Amino acid sequence: MESTKQGKSRVLIGLQYGDEGKARVLDKIIDDADVVARFNGGANAGHTLVVGNKSIALHMIPSGIFHPEIKLYVGSGCVVNPEKTNKEIEEIEDLGISLSRRLYFAANASLVQPHHILLDGILGKGIGTTNNGIGPAYADKALRIEGKRIKNLRVADFFANPTLAYSIVKENIEQAIESYSISGINTAKLATKFVEETKGLEQYYCPNPLFLENMAMSGKNVFFEGAQSVMLDVVTGTVPYVTSSRTIAAAAYTGGDLSMKYHSQTIGVAKAIMSRVGNGPFISEFGGRRSEDYCAMDGGNNYKREVESNYDLEKLLKSEDLLEVGIGLRILGNEYGATTKRPRRIGMLDLVMLRQNCLLNSVDALYINKFDCLNDYKRTSLPGIPIVTAYRLNGKIIDYMPVATEDCSRTEPVVEYLPHLSQDISNVRNYNDLPIEAKDAIAFIENKIGTKIYGIGVGPEREQFVNIGGNKE
Ligand code: IMO
Ligand code: MG
Repeated sequence: MESTKQGKSRVLIGLQYGDEGKARVLDKIIDDADVVARFNGGANAGHTLVVGNKSIALHMIPSGIFHPEIKLYVGSGCVVNPEKTNKEIEEIEDLGISLSRRLYFAANASLVQPHHILLDGILGKGIGTTNNGIGPAYADKALRIEGKRIKNLRVADFFANPTLAYSIVKENIEQAIESYSISGINTAKLATKFVEETKGLEQYYCPNPLFLENMAMSGKNVFFEGAQSVMLDVVTGTVPYVTSSRTIAAAAYTGGDLSMKYHSQTIGVAKAIMSRVGNGPFISEFGGRRSEDYCAMDGGNNYKREVESNYDLEKLLKSEDLLEVGIGLRILGNEYGATTKRPRRIGMLDLVMLRQNCLLNSVDALYINKFDCLNDYKRTSLPGIPIVTAYRLNGKIIDYMPVATEDCSRTEPVVEYLPHLSQDISNVRNYNDLPIEAKDAIAFIENKIGTKIYGIGVGPEREQFVNIGGNKE
């Protein structure tokens, strides 16, 4: 007789603007997972994994590559760039890791076509996109057909008829070239390359939409890994400065090909000093609008790490100008994009946003990375660790993030200062060894947001982590 044991499914999401260190938390708690699945986004994600002396930034393949028994699934809510995916597979195999019979692409997932990337390069500048063709790919998915032209191509459509796929892709490139007067493109070559790259993925094609459901039914555990983060959600994020997919926890069950009945836990990941790449509202940003403009200069390419590392760090940190303090904290925290290398905008921990996102995503367990960075505030002239605990909009205190961009820009953060940490915590591994100021900060955050903190990151290395769940006295 078949076993009656049902699998469980967990969802891990970022609660701020991305880059909270989702992959390292996943890596800490992945143990009982049988499959790690992506449900949104594409190669715009940048998930850095470190194991021993091996390090790799994953963009399309789910984290979990270092665990050979864990399967990797890319769900139907994703958009897949074949060329980038093949490159990534190669990089992973160069580390001595095999993906054969481990990696699966959903039949319903859409392919990022060459014209999507061409268009993103032209149209995505106002947002500061990652140039992965994400917006145009999701737009074409919603558009479906334009006149007689098929716009959206799924993995299944491709393998059902690669010859037809070739002509669809070619026509779409031609249309883009014509509409935007793009020159220097060899359409046939680009379309042929796309077809070859996609054929290269054939061994990973998963034709059966019941794949995850069957696994869960037979007792296997599914771990959904969110890409981007909830403030970048295309509906409830800081629209229009968002990505084009749904990034909230519930999206795991619309883009992940599993029914909701297996859901058992939602894990949220945040960062103790926040960051954002690309444009858009960021109420707790150091230096506000000036920082946004500074970081956006030359598409984000003006102030990369190599440039800022020559600055006088102590002078920046001690500055009365919060823009400069932010730059200093960025250098100390090494906050530069994993995908694009752009400088990330830096801001105070914002508990209004964090509370809202924990509530709306029913977060059961919260992890906060870069807790050690709170000690960097000691090197500034700020009177303590700044934490945003409320907003003021048009003279009124509010406890939610305004929806309109204009309202966000009029919103002032209400800041409370917690006592500086009395010692560096990057070598601490147990909750009990944390200085009292860190324990108090943890309690303060939990109190304000009504969600339990299960762990904190205290440095970039894999073992620089303090597990808290259940260990508190
Ligand atoms: P992970 O998974 C941080 C941002 C881009 C841009 C906006 C839209 O590593 O947290 P897109 O290319 O998606 O159309 O860009 O969203 N963005 C991210 N920021 N982390 C990410 O992924 C991001 N993916 C997209 O910077 O502002
Ligand atoms: Mg990233």
